[in-house]
Amino acid sequence: MRFIGNKENLLDKIYQIMTEKGVKGQTFFDFFAGTTNVGRFFKKMNYQVFSSDLLYFSFVLQKAYIANNQEFKLEKLLQNIDFQPQQLFATPLQIIVEYLNQIPDKKGFIYENYTPAGNRMYFSEENGLRIDTIRQQIEEWKNENLISENEYFILLSCLIETVPFYANVAGVYAAFHKKWDPRAVKKLELRPIEFVQNNLDNQCFNENSVNLLDKIKADIFYLDPPYNQRQYAPNYHLLETIAKYDNPEIKGVTGLRANYENQKSKFCNATTALQELDKIAKFGKYKTLILSYNNEGIMPQSEILSTLSKYGKTGLEEFDYLRFKCNNNGESKHKKHIKEQLYILQK
Ligand SMILES: C[S@@+](CC[C@H](N)C(=O)[O-])C[C@H]1O[C@@H](n2cnc3c(N)ncnc32)[C@H](O)[C@@H]1O
Repeated sequence: MRFIGNKENLLDKIYQIMTEKGVKGQTFFDFFAGTTNVGRFFKKMNYQVFSSDLLYFSFVLQKAYIANNQEFKLEKLLQNIDFQPQQLFATPLQIIVEYLNQIPDKKGFIYENYTPAGNRMYFSEENGLRIDTIRQQIEEWKNENLISENEYFILLSCLIETVPFYANVAGVYAAFHKKWDPRAVKKLELRPIEFVQNNLDNQCFNENSVNLLDKIKADIFYLDPPYNQRQYAPNYHLLETIAKYDNPEIKGVTGLRANYENQKSKFCNATTALQELDKIAKFGKYKTLILSYNNEGIMPQSEILSTLSKYGKTGLEEFDYLRFKCNNNGESKHKKHIKEQLYILQK
């Protein structure tokens, strides 16, 4: 998924550094879960994973990818729908995805507000309708007790993972393109997600992770906070609204959710970020704390080092990373080398 700070392409490098530094354990807290890519990687490595994020759509993904360890059978639902899939040897999830891709359109909040029908160009009218149709059907199945909680989060995750492939945006949802991007005019086809299973009691939260310091004990705390002033909630408001489907009050030309007070991160301000980091390093129940950051972050390197080193042996590893940057309209892209940093604190 396109997501600021997504660590998908850095995981091998991060793991290599951890191994070189002798960092290991059996339990892992993904403190700023985002797309869940980090948690998934460590779940595959057979760690018991804890994860949390302020964003609800991240929680949906966490429930599907991190907490879930069950096979997706959908028995009750399959008994209740009359449908002949075209694919041979399809899995239950593939059958339901195929079914959802052909049910008739039903208008809803996304079509009314985020397509040309609502004077915005985040999605084509056709795709806005598909999002509403699929989203409402999943909710209906949940209300009729045809799917379990697990199955609900898995189906929602399929939708959350599919939507960015058709959004008329430059990556974040704070603005839409004034012309149609080729990705946005393709017809939306729901895609099934892939599962990761490890049969451990992995646990997920939709909270300020700092409030979980009392609750969670793990060998490794992995911190990948926002590194600049840009709050995540307004930048991903549409994924949040599709996940919640709560008909929120929205505002302005871009249709942002009017209220995201309780999703503001203290890591988007240098002073409060350092205070939070201090709290985590001081009160967290971990053996090793790893902070992913980069040389453009708002917390200065010297202050991070002096904060962490109060609580144990602290080192800094750096490596080059090539990042694509867009201008504000997302029109021109250029490559930029930045230094990715891993601060490692061992108690
Ligand atoms: C850099 S991103 C993490 C990216 C993630 N590692 C990945 O690979 O997708 C930072 C995430 O931290 C979340 N966040 C910010 N402050 C938080 C807090 N205090 N507690 C929990 N999550 C927070 C944001 O919503 C965002 O999803």
